[in-house]
Parts: sequence; C-alpha cells; structure tokens
Amino acid sequence: MTDRRTILQLLALSSLAAVPAIGATLTPSTDPAAAWRNPGADQKDPRLYCLAHAILAPNPHNRQPWLVDLEGDDTINFYFDTTRRLPATDPYDRQLTIGCGAFLEILSIAAAEIGYEAQIRLFPLGEPQPTLDDRPVARIRLVDGGRRDPLFTQITQRRSNKEAYDLKKPISGETLKALVAAEPSEKLMFAGALSGDPRCERLRQISIQAYRREIETPVALKESIDLIRIGKAEIAKYRDGIDLDFPGIGAMQAMGILTREKMLTPGTKAYQQGLDQYEPLAKSASGYVWIISDTKDRYAELAAGRAYARLNLRATALGIAMHPMSQALQEYAEMSAIKAETEKAVSLSPHARLQMLARIGYASKVPPSPRRGLSEHLRT
Ligand SMILES: Cc1cc2nc3c(=O)[nH]c(=O)nc-3n(C[C@H](O)[C@H](O)[C@H](O)COP(=O)(O)O)c2cc1C
Repeated sequence: MTDRRTILQLLALSSLAAVPAIGATLTPSTDPAAAWRNPGADQKDPRLYCLAHAILAPNPHNRQPWLVDLEGDDTINFYFDTTRRLPATDPYDRQLTIGCGAFLEILSIAAAEIGYEAQIRLFPLGEPQPTLDDRPVARIRLVDGGRRDPLFTQITQRRSNKEAYDLKKPISGETLKALVAAEPSEKLMFAGALSGDPRCERLRQISIQAYRREIETPVALKESIDLIRIGKAEIAKYRDGIDLDFPGIGAMQAMGILTREKMLTPGTKAYQQGLDQYEPLAKSASGYVWIISDTKDRYAELAAGRAYARLNLRATALGIAMHPMSQALQEYAEMSAIKAETEKAVSLSPHARLQMLARIGYASKVPPSPRRGLSEHLRT
C-alpha cells in the first residue's frame, strides 16, 4: 500500500484542538482522554491511524465493543466483542450494531483524510441473527483514493452531551433542516421536530416515561449501574461505561451516600436521584431528531450507525449538542408499550424500524468521554 501522505504531516496541518486530560497524575495508558488527543499521530500504518479515529465513535453505554485484526498490508478484519453485550437493554445487539456502524463511518472518514478509500464488505461470513457472534462484522480494505470529508475535523470535537440544554436559545427550522436533510438516503429517513411541534412534546413525555420504566425494571437498572464508573480512579481503571464524576463525589462515596447498592435500592436518595435525573434533561430539549430504516436487518442497523455518526458530527459543526435517548426504543418486555407509543409518535410504518432518537439543543461544551485506547482493540 502506498503511503502518499504521511500521517504526521497531515496532523501538523490539521486543526485538532487539544483535549484536556481528566486527571493530572494519569499515564498514557490510564488517561481516559488520551485517545482524543491527536489520534493516530504516532502511527505509521494508515490502518492504525484510521482505527485510532474509529474508536472515538459514539456507542451504547460506551462499551466500545470493537475488536480488529490486521491482515496483509491493507486489510482490517473487524469483529464485535461478544464479551461486551448489554443483554438486558439491548437483547438483540441492535444498538451495539449501530455502534459498530458508527465505528465504520469514522474509520472511513479518517481513511479519506489520508488518501484512502475504505472498501468495506459487511458480514463476509453471513449476517448474524438473532444476536451478533464471533463472525466478522466487516472486512475493510484500504485502497488509494477517497474524498476528504469536511466532517473529519469534528471527529475529536464530537460528544454525546448529557447536560441540560439552553432553553433560551431555540434551534431554528433552517438549522434543523441543515442537520437532517443534508444526506438523503433511500433506505434511511432522517427527521426532527422542534419545541412547539406536538411530536416534540410527545417525545419529551415518552423519553421521561421510558427512562423511569428502565429504572423501575431491576434487571435493566442493574445493567446500567454495573457499568457506572464512579469517580476518577474507577474511570481511569476501566475507561469505558457510564462515567460519573463531579466535585465532592469522593466524600459522598466515603459517607456511603453514593454506592452501587444505594443506586439499586428504591427509597434511597441515590435511587431517587437516578429516577428524577432525566426529566430536566428531556424538558430542556430544543428538539428531537430520529433515524428510521426501511428494513429491520443488520445491514440497516449498520447503515443507521453510519448515518448517526454523521448526524452527530454535523451537529457538532453546527454547534448543536446531541444526546441519544434510547430507552423508549429498547426491545424488552417491560418497555414494549412505551416503544409502541414512540413508534406511533414518529408515524413508523410496520416494515420500518426506529433506530435512533436523540434530543438536540444548544449547550456548554463537555469533556470527552473515556476511551480504552487502540491497543485494547487489537486482537493478538
Ligand atoms: C446506539 C446508541 C444508543 C445510545 N443511547 C444512549 C442513551 O439512551 N442514553 C445516553 O445517555 N446515551 C446514549 N448513547 C450515547 C453513548 O452513551 C455515548 O456515545 C458513549 O457514552 C460515548 O460517549 P461519546 O459519544 O461522547 O463519545 C447512545 C449511543 C449510541 C450509538
């Protein structure tokens, strides 16, 4: 494979903003923000450069379920890490597959940036159903070519922003249009609704209701609580999952107010806080966006993941914060009535699937979420 542009040259020219480290005493292998700083800068192999970007993709519960091996001098075999499932809230791995699609899209954008086209063959050994398995999700070949994509510069700036949004700053109809109408696709439909639109009001109510249902479903709640990383030390140790950190968190832990057990126990402050936290977030939404696929297979899930990554990157370019709110889409029995309501709210037809739902708005910037680092994804 030719190395027409060196990666280091490109990085010197690029406008990547430095991302602050989460803790001062962290080493590169425990710093949860390290992967966001100049990804791939030290890599000579273009595949590793692309992968260093791909691991920055959005993905459910920040499981980062991505494994790769390198074959020959131009090929990547990409696998789902079957040890990183979410069996309670994502029983068919649909959302995790979307996270694999997002990985592929970011990889492709990074490849184009350095003069390669990522030729992707999906599920070369067949489509895994009803869950993902050890067969490859994709076989990727980097060949000379590719068209540079302006979204590249947003890869290290993109976030899932889970804070309250600024209700005083509404999103305009034009901006929403620029966000959802930019890339028409035959197989996917992008749509949105802003504050004031009855669909937006309905989706607000539904997402609050769905979140409460998840908290009140013990097996679903436990799955999330098991993945919460409480405080800097745990975040640095795992560099995945749901990171929880704020001033005073250490004291709350020491006093036994904030423990996993308390979060799981109705009647405690920690449980109640969990139950109440989504309402102000949903209410602060300036609007919602969603992605519908016209089929329900794995290919549609990967396509939705690629599209969602682009939507999130485009929102970043427009200065818009985005936060997936997936509870109402989840396929477990306790959620089924709410899921049906959500599908009605977005006028879903029977053959189609609502793949992503996210709130949008203007908000202050947030730091990057943890990443485990590229070496953790390389199969040996
Ligand atoms: C398919 C999918 C579903 C998601 N669902 C939720 C969700 O319901 N609630 C939430 O807070 N974040 C959700 N997220 C966002 C992830 O939590 C987020 O991508 C991950 O923590 C990594 O953070 P980052 O996107 O800022 O890099 C979802 C992301 C994807 C791709």
